[in-house]
Amino acid sequence: MTFAPDLLKGKVALITGGGTGLGRAMGERFLQLGAKLAICGRREQVLKDAAAEMVAAHGGEVLPIVCDVRDANAVGLMIEEAWAKYGGIDILVNNAAGNIASPTERLSSRAVDAVIGIVLSGSFYCTLALGKKWLQAGRRGKVLSIVTTYAEGGSAYVVPSAAAKAGVLAMTRSLAVEWGPRGIICNAIAPGPFPTKGAWDRLMPDPKMLEMAIERIPLRRPGELIELADLASFLVSDKSDYINGECITIDGGEKLKGAGQFAWMGMLTPEQWAALEASARGTKA
Ligand code: HXC
Ligand code: NAP
Repeated sequence: MTFAPDLLKGKVALITGGGTGLGRAMGERFLQLGAKLAICGRREQVLKDAAAEMVAAHGGEVLPIVCDVRDANAVGLMIEEAWAKYGGIDILVNNAAGNIASPTERLSSRAVDAVIGIVLSGSFYCTLALGKKWLQAGRRGKVLSIVTTYAEGGSAYVVPSAAAKAGVLAMTRSLAVEWGPRGIICNAIAPGPFPTKGAWDRLMPDPKMLEMAIERIPLRRPGELIELADLASFLVSDKSDYINGECITIDGGEKLKGAGQFAWMGMLTPEQWAALEASARGTKA
């Protein structure tokens, strides 16, 4: 997508989980478009390396902050640090997540807590802490939360993630109404499969699994990181100021294929189609 090169000039964005995967891809694009960044995660070296590489590639400023978003106190300190360095924050991207693919009955309560803590509590703590600062300062702000396509309808085998992402979506829509009048805009992106090490290694380690995943996508390919990064750039920019409380799906049509009762018919051979037609026409007689 072509954007004005200064689309995000003067903006400061805090991206949770910004040292890897989609978070890093969004960060790189925001930097190219003129934003300054703070990125957080739990692993200091990953963050430091990412920050150095991003600045080397695109210039600009990236502040790495070690923070476990499950710790509300640490989230408060992170926001103070980034705010003090840049004199404010304009954009929050709730991107940090954890996921466990497992039959639900195999999970311990600690496993459930780990995922819900990162995804739901973490996104809520960041949004709450920054929202309070924005309201207090009378500043505008944008919150973009990265959810999943199953946030709407749930998904077997990733149930803590589905429950938590549904919560993040509910938070997004609720705050869009509550905080919108005071200049805080909240939206979400629901990505289909995008090749990142964090998601792939945990959820699709076997190439066969990836093949099956691609089979479900009408466009027959996973998303490219830049496609998601461009959508995110638009949604955090001033150009999308009238979009509030929305969740934009970017999945090559995967979710709709899953919802269509007859979508499985894509598997039929031409002979099977011919037989089906003959049999259906035959019912007239
Ligand atoms: C069952 C598991 C498990 C597994 C961990 N646990 N992995 N249980 N099956 N595969 C249990 C542990 O035994 C422990 O419970 C509890 O979960 C917490 O585990 P820890 O390793 O101590 O937790 P922690 O270090 O906090 O790690 C959190 C995590 C991990 C969620 C388990 O995977 C993580 O750090 N993930 C971050 C990155 C990530 O998941 N990225 C992918 C996002 S993809 P007990 O009872 O033993 O103490 C995504 C959408 C994908 O979200 C959509 C694709 C299309
Ligand atoms: P990823 O690389 O594993 O990203 C997760 C990031 O979150 C990591 O940087 C991780 O860093 C950070 N994180 C995890 N727990 C944290 C915590 N407690 N505190 C702070 N940071 C934490 O995977 P990804 O694919 O890029 O996922 C990014 C987002 O996209 C997630 O919200 C995910 O649900 C969503 N998504 C991805 C896909 C996909 O196909 N890739 C599809 C749908 C939705 P540390 O481990 O260093 O903490």
